Amino acid sequence: MIKFGAYEDKPFIAQLYDYVPFYAQRPDLGFYLDFARSAGGRILEMGCGTGRILIPMAAAGCDVTGLDFSEFMLARCREKLESQPKEVQERIRLVTCGMAEFDLAESFRLVTAPFRSFQHLISVEEQLSCLRCVNNHMTIGGKFVFDLSRAHFQFVQSDAVGKETQDFSNIELPDGRKMRRTHCFVACHLSEQYNDIEFIYYITDANGKEERLVQAFPFRYFFRYEVEHLLARCGFNIIQVFGNFNRSQLTDGSAEMIFVAEKVKE
Ligand SMILES: C[S@@+](CC[C@H](N)C(=O)[O-])C[C@H]1O[C@@H](n2cnc3c(N)ncnc32)[C@H](O)[C@@H]1O
Repeated sequence: MIKFGAYEDKPFIAQLYDYVPFYAQRPDLGFYLDFARSAGGRILEMGCGTGRILIPMAAAGCDVTGLDFSEFMLARCREKLESQPKEVQERIRLVTCGMAEFDLAESFRLVTAPFRSFQHLISVEEQLSCLRCVNNHMTIGGKFVFDLSRAHFQFVQSDAVGKETQDFSNIELPDGRKMRRTHCFVACHLSEQYNDIEFIYYITDANGKEERLVQAFPFRYFFRYEVEHLLARCGFNIIQVFGNFNRSQLTDGSAEMIFVAEKVKE
């Protein structure tokens, strides 16, 4: 299993992340901001990355702790924070650590894990450990809100193993270089419910010289009732399961699988 090899040891990912059109245009910001505004207390975002959601939460007046195990992603977040007003900067605390094992000596009213961060936890032990940590950092009634990709049969046994498929092309970076990206399913581990995936970035400079940069990582997929069982084992009740960020119901055609859970016991 490729255990590492992505965000935490490849600096290029943090540098390119905010220019990936799918990420920049992801329609989840309003959804998470609504939960943040009504949280009524401190918020923890697990896998906060470059602050795509974290910074707007602080700009909306919320006190947020951002946790991520990638120093590169957090460094990019800090760089972006420099252009924010002082009061926004002061509402954010950044912590470098893994989401499967953390002790922040703080309690939160809302914990979030936007953009499929929980899918980086491959084993059930890591997932349970993470959910127990979330529970330990909340008071009764606190909410845990997170999204996962809805598993479908292409994930389960991709017939495209080994083939590069284009995601986007011709994106201009601030320094004038051009970026395109493909993705590739390298291997499907059916019995362990994860795939080895590569995102392959091609960066072309002004002289036409192309660099190929690979983000390789294992990615877990989950089925709905599996997640419900995991949450129940760790002291959570499921309040809602959505299929999209417009809060529509989860259906066979949904793109996302979004859980709103509430802490009901220690
Ligand atoms: C897809 S990005 C999402 C970033 C941000 N939440 C967003 O919505 O743009 C996933 C993030 O999770 C972080 N991550 C992955 N595995 C992690 C782990 N085990 N513990 C903490 N952070 C992790 C990565 O470093 C990365 O920043």
